[in-house]
Amino acid sequence: MVETSRTKANRKLAHLQSVALLAWYDRHRRALPWRALPGEGVDPYRVWLSEIMLQQTTVESVKPYFAKFLTAWPDVAALAAAEDQALLAAWAGLGYYARARNLMACARVVTRDHGGKFPETEEGLRALPGIGTYTAAAIAAIAFDAPAVVIDGNIERVITRLAAISTPLPAAKVEIRAVLEPMVPQDRPGDFAQALMDLGSGVCTPRSPNCLLCPLQSACRAAKAGNATDYPVKIRKKGKPVKFGTAHVIFDASGRILLGTRPEKGLLARMAEVPNSGWTENGAPASSPPIKAAWTTLNAPVIHVFTHFELRMSVQVARLPTDPPAPEGLRWVPLQQLDSEPLPTLFRKIIDAAD
Ligand code: ADE
Ligand code: SF4
Repeated sequence: MVETSRTKANRKLAHLQSVALLAWYDRHRRALPWRALPGEGVDPYRVWLSEIMLQQTTVESVKPYFAKFLTAWPDVAALAAAEDQALLAAWAGLGYYARARNLMACARVVTRDHGGKFPETEEGLRALPGIGTYTAAAIAAIAFDAPAVVIDGNIERVITRLAAISTPLPAAKVEIRAVLEPMVPQDRPGDFAQALMDLGSGVCTPRSPNCLLCPLQSACRAAKAGNATDYPVKIRKKGKPVKFGTAHVIFDASGRILLGTRPEKGLLARMAEVPNSGWTENGAPASSPPIKAAWTTLNAPVIHVFTHFELRMSVQVARLPTDPPAPEGLRWVPLQQLDSEPLPTLFRKIIDAAD
């Protein structure tokens, strides 16, 4: 391809910006448990595990889970050999359980079909369960120093500001990629991506960017115009639909709680649950409690926000004076053993509200 003098000049500017950004990163990088220290070898397993956990979850919430997983399953072969239920239980609280199932599936494919080594290209990575465009680029760059263009939410914000891209997301992604591509340094693409992530999380923040501390300030069009917080432009989303249901929290005389297992398919498949009516947009479905008891209804519903809807569960509580056998399909679980159940956040919140 013939480069015009204009694209050459652009590349040069882009290069200066990435040099400034990397110098900033060398001084201010966050110490994160999955990051190799400078000069230390990178473990692709840690990079992959952290990237899957960080999909839709904050860095601070991921840290304890990352530590727990590394202790229990120190490498991909160990994770591939894990029991499904043990892994789902360890994941409980991180939400979006499809990620946990994909994690398991991916570990097994890597172990069985790739001799325990992750593919090193974006294309090879994208073929694995649970790895989409962003995650493939992130792993290729961070674990294998491939010159991949990594675009996450933080990076979108930094780049739309830097280049004053006023096209709304997600359509702006094409322009963001075009700005980023010539900036990616061939020698440190992984550090470059993580530098932009750190800049977005600590300096170029959504509501109060600190442009005076920013290594990109002299090149930044939004900073120059003084309107950084106008970016990124987003199309306003409609509110999520609201669904309603009723949950039954039942303790027996020994303090055990009655749990069931969700169906094989659908939302929160195969996870643990308290008996409940299910949920619909037209109010709570008629519910028949699984056991005869004196019920109290909590004053406020438990609200939980899923990706595609908000759920308001009315909670009914019963404390039995006896220890009856569990009804068919349900089981009594001592409260101390709740942590080893694959209990989604929704039901954890319901139990906490009732207890
Ligand atoms: N979010 C997703 N991946 C990350 C990483 N490697 N460092 C910091 N934040 C992240
Ligand atoms: Fe963000 Fe300000 Fe840096 Fe521009 S100068 S990238 S708006 S922090």
